[in-house]
Amino acid sequence: MAERAPPPTVRLPLADNDRLYELKKLFIAKYSHEPSFYARAPGRVNLIGEHIDYCGYAVLPMAIEQDILAAVQSVDTQVLQLSNTNPNYLDFSVSVHDIYIDKTKPLWHNYFLCGLKGVQDHFSLSCPTGMNCLVDGTIPASSGLSSSSALVCCAGLATLIANSKTLSKVELAETCAKCERYIGTEGGGMDQSISFLAEEGTAKLIEFNPLRSTDVKLPSGAVFVIANSCVEMNKAATAHFNIRVVECRLATKILAKSKGLDWKSLMKLGDLQSKLGCNLEDMQTIVEKNLHPKPYTREEICEFLGIDLEELRTTILSQNTQDVSTFKLYQRAMHVYSEAARVLAFKKVCDEAPANAVQLLGDLMNQSHVSCRDMYECSCSELDQLVDICLKSGAVGSRLTGAGWGGCTVSMVPADKLEDFLLNVQEKYYKTDERKSALLKQSLFATKPGPGAMVFLEEK
Ligand code: GLA
Repeated sequence: MAERAPPPTVRLPLADNDRLYELKKLFIAKYSHEPSFYARAPGRVNLIGEHIDYCGYAVLPMAIEQDILAAVQSVDTQVLQLSNTNPNYLDFSVSVHDIYIDKTKPLWHNYFLCGLKGVQDHFSLSCPTGMNCLVDGTIPASSGLSSSSALVCCAGLATLIANSKTLSKVELAETCAKCERYIGTEGGGMDQSISFLAEEGTAKLIEFNPLRSTDVKLPSGAVFVIANSCVEMNKAATAHFNIRVVECRLATKILAKSKGLDWKSLMKLGDLQSKLGCNLEDMQTIVEKNLHPKPYTREEICEFLGIDLEELRTTILSQNTQDVSTFKLYQRAMHVYSEAARVLAFKKVCDEAPANAVQLLGDLMNQSHVSCRDMYECSCSELDQLVDICLKSGAVGSRLTGAGWGGCTVSMVPADKLEDFLLNVQEKYYKTDERKSALLKQSLFATKPGPGAMVFLEEK
C-alpha cells in the first residue's frame, strides 16, 4: 500500500523549478554552502468533519498547493541553525541535544523543534546530526489551512532524511501528530495525516486507530474555493481549542458513567460509541437523554463522577484549561456525533455519484457550518458573514474549515459559476475594507487536491 511507503524522493534539475532555485541561492548566501536536499509538506483544507478527529472520528480533507519548503544541509556541529525567507520570522539556533519547547509562546521555530524532537524521540537518537535549514512557506499563517502542522511535518521529514533514517508516510504522520502536542494543543492528527498521505487529484477519508486513508473522488462539476476571513487565529495562543477537547472528554466520561461503563478508561466520544456498540443516531439519542444543555459547573461534574477538583484537574483537564469553570457538554457531543455522520454521508454521495451529488454535498457542508457555529461555537461573526456572502454568490455549500474562530471558509461552487462567484465575493467581502483588500490575492482562490509531502534532490 502506498501509505506504507516512505514519502517520495524526486530528483530534478533546479533550473526547472524557480522556487527551489531561488531557495538554493538564498541558502548559499546564508550558509555559504549548498543544501543537500529539500523537504516539502503541504497545508490542507478540510472539506467536512470539523473537531472530530480528536474524538476518534474520520475526517475528509485534501492537501492544497500551498506548502512549507525547507532547504537543508546536515552538519556535524550538532547545532540546528534555522532561518526563514520571511523576515518576520527570526533566525534561531540551538544544540540538537538540548531541545526545549516553550508552550507559552507559539513562536515559529517551536513548531520546527516539535518535528525535530518527534523524530529524535522516535528513534531515541543519541547522536542526532546538526542541520542548517532555510524555510520558505506559502500557507497564510493562522488561517485554518494548517501552516503550523505543515511546518512540523516538514521539520520531521527534514530531520529524518538528515539522520539517514526511514519511516513510512503513516509512521511519519503518527510521529508528527504526537510531537505537535509538545506545543500544548491537543490536536487530533488530521493535519499531519493528510500532509503525508495526500495524493494529487483526490480528497481522502482519513480514519484513525489504526491510521488509514481512502480516496474520495470529488464531483467533476464543482470547484472548491478557499476564502480567508482575514481574522487570525493561532490555536496554540488561546485556550479555545483545548477547552473543546476537554469538553468532549468530559462528555465522554459523564455519558460513560450514566451508562454504567468504566468511565475512567474512556477518553474519546468515539471510544464510547464502540463500547456501547451503537450507531451515530443512537448516540445522539443517548446525548439527548443523558446530558443537559445548561453548562456544567466543575462542582457538578466532580459530584457526578465522585472525584474532587484536584483529580479533575490532574486527570482530565489540560494545562491551559485548569481554571475554566463551566463546560458545555450537550452541545459539543451533539456536534461531534452529527458531524461524524455527515462525513460518512459525504463519502457515500461521492462514491455513489447520484445526479444531484453537488446539491447533496452542499447541503452537508451547510449543515456542518451551522453545527460548528451553534453547537460547537467555533465560528466568529466574520466567518459567518463570509459563508453567507459565499452562498449568496453562487456556492452550493460553504463552511468554516480547520479549527475556526477565524481563518478560512471552504465553498463548493458549480464550475460554470466560478468566475461570477469570485467577483462577487471580492466585491462584498474584500473590497469593503482596505486591509482585506490588500490581502485579497492570497485570500481567495480555487483549489484542487494536491500531492503529499516529498523530498527533492538536485539533479546536476
Ligand atoms: C486543527 C487540529 C486538527 C483538527 C482541526 C479541527 O486543525 O490540528 O487536528 O482538530 O483543528 O477539525
